[in-house]
Amino acid sequence: MLKKYLSQSIIVIIVIVISLLIFNFATELKGEQVGLAQEISIINNPLDRLVLVNKQRRLKWNFSPPDLTTVNIPFTVVENSSRQKMRFEAAKMLENLIFQAQQEEIELIGVSGYRSYQRQLEIFLENVILFGDDDSYSSARPGHSEHQTGLAIDLTTPDLNYQLTEELGQHQAGQWLEKWAPSYGFIVRYQQGKEGITGYQYEPWHLRYVGVEAALEIVADDLTLEEYLFAQPEKLLTGKAKLGIEPPRLRFPFES
Ligand code: DAL
Ligand code: ZN
Repeated sequence: MLKKYLSQSIIVIIVIVISLLIFNFATELKGEQVGLAQEISIINNPLDRLVLVNKQRRLKWNFSPPDLTTVNIPFTVVENSSRQKMRFEAAKMLENLIFQAQQEEIELIGVSGYRSYQRQLEIFLENVILFGDDDSYSSARPGHSEHQTGLAIDLTTPDLNYQLTEELGQHQAGQWLEKWAPSYGFIVRYQQGKEGITGYQYEPWHLRYVGVEAALEIVADDLTLEEYLFAQPEKLLTGKAKLGIEPPRLRFPFES
């Protein structure tokens, strides 16, 4: 009985995986596709600091950033895993942000940084199996997650049982994060009240690195990344925002 159930489940999973792969392959072949309600375009500047990844813009399945490095902050996972990695500049800026938090006795813990396309596919399928595919409001489809760029990270705090929960927004740690993250080039990417623009529920735990200048401008004008970039299309489409190091703010506190 159990065997039968298991083999049926495996067949269902295989069918879903194959369907998704065919779907993604077909859309990638066309470059731009209109199979869904909205057009989806393939991202051609995945290495830009300001790269826009959302439900309309997809990273290629084989894209992974070349400069992934382990972020030297506390994580919920202890083993050395790709979840602890981000692109070099983002990793160093995050280390500085968390260093300042620690100085002020604010506990922030990493949950998930870089995720490959394959890992995002697994997460998405888990969610489809658990909750159904309702154009998920919380988990991105493979290729549509900022985590694949190495510029995003989910953070939590011990007080909230290390969970990724909206309560972080009301918690001292979340409020500290919202206030200080932009000084280190990070924004809270999925804001409350902007769900219609970002396509995702409020996620006070999901930080996206965009660089200090852009982050400060975005929060000063209370914008989403979409609003910021659509007002300046040259930043959206060109490779002008290549990553480098922003020396003035780097203290390398965790390097010995
Ligand atoms: N939770 C965000 C939207 C992601 O899966 O990338
Ligand atoms: Zn996230």
